[in-house]
Amino acid sequence: MAKSYKLSIIKGDGIGPEIIDEAIKILDAVAKKCDFTLEYNEYLMGGIAIDTTGHPLPEATVEGVLNSDACLFGAIGGVKWDTLPRNLRPETGLLSFREKMGVYANLRPAVIYDELINASTLKAEVIKGVDIMVVRELIGGIYFGQPRANDGETAYNTMIYTKKEILRIGKKAFEIAMTRDNRLCSVDKANVLEVSQLWRDTMNELSKDYPSVELTHMYVDNAAMQLVRNPRQFDVIVTGNIFGDILSDTASMVVGSIGLLPSASTGDKTAIYEPIHGSAPDIAGLGIANPIATIESAAMLLRYSLNENEAASLIEKAIKKVLKEGYRTKDLADFDAKEVLTTSQMGDVILNNI
Ligand code: NAI
Ligand code: MG
Repeated sequence: MAKSYKLSIIKGDGIGPEIIDEAIKILDAVAKKCDFTLEYNEYLMGGIAIDTTGHPLPEATVEGVLNSDACLFGAIGGVKWDTLPRNLRPETGLLSFREKMGVYANLRPAVIYDELINASTLKAEVIKGVDIMVVRELIGGIYFGQPRANDGETAYNTMIYTKKEILRIGKKAFEIAMTRDNRLCSVDKANVLEVSQLWRDTMNELSKDYPSVELTHMYVDNAAMQLVRNPRQFDVIVTGNIFGDILSDTASMVVGSIGLLPSASTGDKTAIYEPIHGSAPDIAGLGIANPIATIESAAMLLRYSLNENEAASLIEKAIKKVLKEGYRTKDLADFDAKEVLTTSQMGDVILNNI
């Protein structure tokens, strides 16, 4: 019997619905081709949830996503909701969602498409062949550490990691390195911070269980510099929440347009797949958003949550082919475009290559 999976879908606000619709189109096509079925259940979050239910993260969304095999997420937020109190804003719903889902590992691949090498602000000879995976710890560290306070004269936050948390993210990173080039660079600030010393000691301890993976360490300031100087030296990078936040943005710009980059947030309960960009209210409804980051996110979902590797490869190959043939959305129109397409036309040409 054909395998069947339950996906939770959160379209969100702005361009969210437009880009998710394209991803679903592609998911349906590969499911048919690879002989499995997908059941979709849609849930509300962000501005649309506020307008409909009065809350940015309805309980039904939390339950629905926890009961699904994986979640495909568009983007949330927009000017309409920017003046609400912080606890009722769309973005607060998103942070709380990630915490409730226990998605401790944020995976952000940064891969260069040869066809778009001129879209990066870095020189082609520096970025050609870049294929990096940043593994960022997502629900610990200084963003969540207690105590935290600001009394107007003095303010502080707490950078805290338990060995258990470091082992959890470390294992994930070693396992990912084993599916790639077997090189893992752990980024910390162990020359200054105790929390980083524990991080480094724990990674070293863990590396004994993964003899095929070469573990190296780098201080975060140097890593920021090396990412721009010679990004090809990296395979997998593992780091804490704040360092990963900064480094993954740097790594993404090595690649070019924000409309191209997918991400996965995974944990023990479920996983969320989403483009790294936001809801782009400036272009919402115009039909010009680039759906590729979301379609790539769907491919990650197939690979990491459903183990449908063939289906994932079909999508990745179709995207490469389409870019090679010169099809571009408006954001990439200046880079060797043969034809500039709308959001749904881009979905269609990818579909035709599945
Ligand atoms: P943004 O990523 O939405 O947009 C930044 C710029 O990139 C804009 O000029 C936009 O038009 C362009 N852009 C983004 N995605 C694109 C795509 N697929 N194709 C073509 N162009 C694209 O970031 P911004 O403007 O800072 O935030 C807008 C809203 O999104 C805010 O409410 C923010 O809080 C929210 N946001 C939500 C996120 C999420 O849901 N995960 C992440 C980041 C921001
Ligand atoms: Mg960030």
